[in-house]
Amino acid sequence: SRYSRILGTGSFLPPNRLSNADLVAQLAKDGIETSDEWIVERTGIRARHFAGTGVTASDLALPAAQAALAAAGVAAGEIDLIIVATSTPDMIFPSTACLLQAKLGVAGAAAFDVQAVCSGFVYALTVADSMIRTGAASKALVIGAEVFSRILDFKDRTTCVLFGDGAGAVVLGASDIPGILASELHADGSHAGILCVPGTVVGGQVLGDPLLKMDGQAVFKLAVGVLEKVARGVLEKAGRVEADIDWLIPHQANIRIMHSTTKKLKLPLDKLIVTVDQHGNTSAASIPLALDAAVRSGKIKTGDTVMLEGVGGGFTWGAVLLDF
Ligand code: ACO
Repeated sequence: SRYSRILGTGSFLPPNRLSNADLVAQLAKDGIETSDEWIVERTGIRARHFAGTGVTASDLALPAAQAALAAAGVAAGEIDLIIVATSTPDMIFPSTACLLQAKLGVAGAAAFDVQAVCSGFVYALTVADSMIRTGAASKALVIGAEVFSRILDFKDRTTCVLFGDGAGAVVLGASDIPGILASELHADGSHAGILCVPGTVVGGQVLGDPLLKMDGQAVFKLAVGVLEKVARGVLEKAGRVEADIDWLIPHQANIRIMHSTTKKLKLPLDKLIVTVDQHGNTSAASIPLALDAAVRSGKIKTGDTVMLEGVGGGFTWGAVLLDF
């Protein structure tokens, strides 16, 4: 049989890092009150990186992709599929994946974006795995890249303290040995309103609000339930049990959601990979950023079983179980 396996990981954070104290001071200039205590207690976030004016998702994706290619020992020209998961694309079109392809200096591979907000990376990885297993592709670059600072309302303290910018990437290659063991994707569009950027561009004008809106408590409740269910679904498909999971990498949005998911799966907290404290919520980039950090720090080793779980706007959710 033909399977897909992760050959290398990479990530990139823009250099401008803001601690909670930095952000509190910046918001105070506009009369917005918040505190390090509130942010840490409610979310676990201590710092985030912001890309700065003019820096795009493909700018962040490029060094992440190059690091993943180097780790995999694969040249950009060998890649025959590029999928970028993003909700903050450089342009309406062409896709960020095509713009990244040009920046990588290659041509010919299929390239497209996947838009599933914070579930984007598990969606993109599942699509790439399917295409590799059917023979439609052999070596894929799968990337989550976001510049959420572009869509944050810095007058809304309930959302602007939560998010950050960054990119994470993997090279996924065809393999005789299973890497990706099982995956599951879901959506329920009836919850579109609880987490959205409702605006769009019509006739050269922005129509509707172009900044992020979130009902935090509604998102919290939905997220906790679906993350448990989808993890169990994927374990069952793969013929594995909770105790087989060496590492859990949920979408890094909020430490309370992450702890609750870990407990529901009866996993010890030391199997949970946490980067939300240093990155904030980087949407589709959060899982590959956390994966790369855990690989480079020596936590995740070849052969380890890893559960990736995404949840976010749409509402969308999904999980991928893999042997690294
Ligand atoms: N600083 C200080 N006070 C604040 C801030 C802030 N940044 N934001 C809100 N508050 C105040 C509110 O005004 C409110 O004050 P009040 O009681 O006087 O009215 C109080 O804090 C409590 O507000 P709640 O919204 O009830 O706070 P909650 O405990 O629900 O925490 C949070 C909010 C962190 C957003 C939480 O609901 C949450 O984590 N939700 C999950 C959403 C999430 O993680 N989203 C990320 C994107 S979605 C995803 O990726 C899945």
